[in-house]
Amino acid sequence: MNRSTLSEQFYLDQAKHQGATGELSTVLNRISLAARMIASEIMRAGFVGTLGYTGTQNVQQEDVRALDVISNDIFGQVFEHMPMVSAMASEEMEDVYQFADDGAGKYVITHDPLDGSGNVDVAGQMGTIFGIYRRKTQSGRPTLDDFLQPGKNLVVGGYVLYGPCTMLVYTAGGPVNGFTLDRSIGTFFLTHPEMKIKEGEGTYSVNEANETKWDDKTRAMVAKFRRQQTACGKRSARYAGALVGDFHRTLIKGGIYMYPGETNRPEGKLRLLYENAPLALVCEQAGGAASDGRQRILDITPTKLHMRTPLYIGSKGDVAEAVRQLL
Ligand code: F6P
Ligand code: MN
Repeated sequence: MNRSTLSEQFYLDQAKHQGATGELSTVLNRISLAARMIASEIMRAGFVGTLGYTGTQNVQQEDVRALDVISNDIFGQVFEHMPMVSAMASEEMEDVYQFADDGAGKYVITHDPLDGSGNVDVAGQMGTIFGIYRRKTQSGRPTLDDFLQPGKNLVVGGYVLYGPCTMLVYTAGGPVNGFTLDRSIGTFFLTHPEMKIKEGEGTYSVNEANETKWDDKTRAMVAKFRRQQTACGKRSARYAGALVGDFHRTLIKGGIYMYPGETNRPEGKLRLLYENAPLALVCEQAGGAASDGRQRILDITPTKLHMRTPLYIGSKGDVAEAVRQLL
């Protein structure tokens, strides 16, 4: 048996940093706990009547599902009274959520607790996306500014995929490591060490039903991928409708995922802090690229908590090709 567990691997990662206190390891272990709790909620949702909607809308004017609320609450629960984490921002909450301790913890967390929750009633893939930032302010309670940091400041970025198996993938600025949950004992083991995205092959992934909402350049660019007219040549289209699922496939098989801006919504749909930035860090650390069509996702400083940007993420070659067509 030579597989590291998530906590062992993270400890090894952190041991390389002088002055590491072990606090970040605790944060990651708590994310792993949240992931296991959410995976368990998803598995039993059909039995306990939590597949449906709550009848309310979130700050993004999206219909909220019971599992969205449950997953968001789980994040609240696992980080309550963790002294190193002072506050969190969630796709599901309008404002920054301050934990009920003294607020002095040096880390703040961003998350999309249940990405792709529209897949819940078709037993499709879903995910959690998370980012950990070191707060900028030194004392007192964290402020909004502590969250309005560009993705390049992320200390850790990662995601959890809930599919036929549950996987947790993260980077702390070094290699991207992927772990698979052994459900029988509730432990994540390292199964995908030092993940690298493939160049020159893979799928393209975009909701082509949105074509009428795009400008001419976007339409022409996507058509090139569809007609096999990019450098990579022949490829298939795939769209799971859950960003984490689509991104995970792209990371493993190569290719590109896109959520373009639209004529009436130039900023697109996906959120910079909860979705785009953490995945961009993972993608870049795996040798890929992520852009909003104009600039590197990791260079964008959010101007508000729920800011959206277009997203082109995947292999360097494919992202460069997409961006070139949009100029
Ligand atoms: O969180 C937003 C999200 O659900 C992503 O997971 C997914 O990729 C996207 O929206 C799907 O949007 P659409 O239904 O517009 O393709
Ligand atoms: Mn999402």
